[in-house]
Amino acid sequence: MACLKLKKFEEFLQTVDGFDNPKVTLEQYVTPSHIASHMLYMIQTNYDDLENKLVLDLGSGAGMLSVGASLLGAAYVLGIEIDSDAIEIFKNNVSEFDLNNVDCVRWDVLRLGDANLNSAFDTIVMNPPFGTKQNKGIDMTFLRTGLNLTKHSLYSLHKTSTRDHIRKKAIEWNVRASIIAELKYNLPHTYKFHKRTSVDIAVDLWRFEITKNSFH
Ligand SMILES: C[S@@+](CC[C@H](N)C(=O)[O-])C[C@H]1O[C@@H](n2cnc3c(N)ncnc32)[C@H](O)[C@@H]1O
Repeated sequence: MACLKLKKFEEFLQTVDGFDNPKVTLEQYVTPSHIASHMLYMIQTNYDDLENKLVLDLGSGAGMLSVGASLLGAAYVLGIEIDSDAIEIFKNNVSEFDLNNVDCVRWDVLRLGDANLNSAFDTIVMNPPFGTKQNKGIDMTFLRTGLNLTKHSLYSLHKTSTRDHIRKKAIEWNVRASIIAELKYNLPHTYKFHKRTSVDIAVDLWRFEITKNSFH
């Protein structure tokens, strides 16, 4: 990590392959390399939460965040993804980068409560489905599940329109929550029903930290 400059890191992430045929119902869009690189770089340089850490990527898709976390020195990265087509691309990306500390398992994040992985990870990174495709609330379920699996911190992207709700939930769960970046997320023309070539939405990058009073 010490030698990897942000510009070079972003160039690496530009070569991560995305979804072949993105599935609308799973909200499959890749975190753009510009956002992923700045987000992960900040997580490492400002908070020291990647290097030598056990990292979990929920809804890991084609692996943008997992590959990035590994390039910044994570000790081990596990991706969890429901879609086997995405996992195949994830594995190709990992092998293109010759990374030997990144795995991906096929699992439904909504059923992770059964998996008995409680608080096994230092850091969670995720760009969850926003819950806009007849799956309202899935973003909050991903968040709650992730918080249950980390012993220290979780970083996640959420639509700015959900900001007040997230703040309330963080208080209820006794986790420290702060918005560490405000972004314009450019959803490219991934899905046919988008009439415009891209849609800009306001998104917050949140940092959550477990405290001794948190629920677990
Ligand atoms: C917005 S994409 C982000 C992909 C990737 N993490 C990235 O940053 O490029 C959300 C991902 O969550 C996956 N997903 C959706 N529902 C899921 C579930 N219930 N369990 C696991 N993965 C899920 C989708 O297939 C998709 O890959």
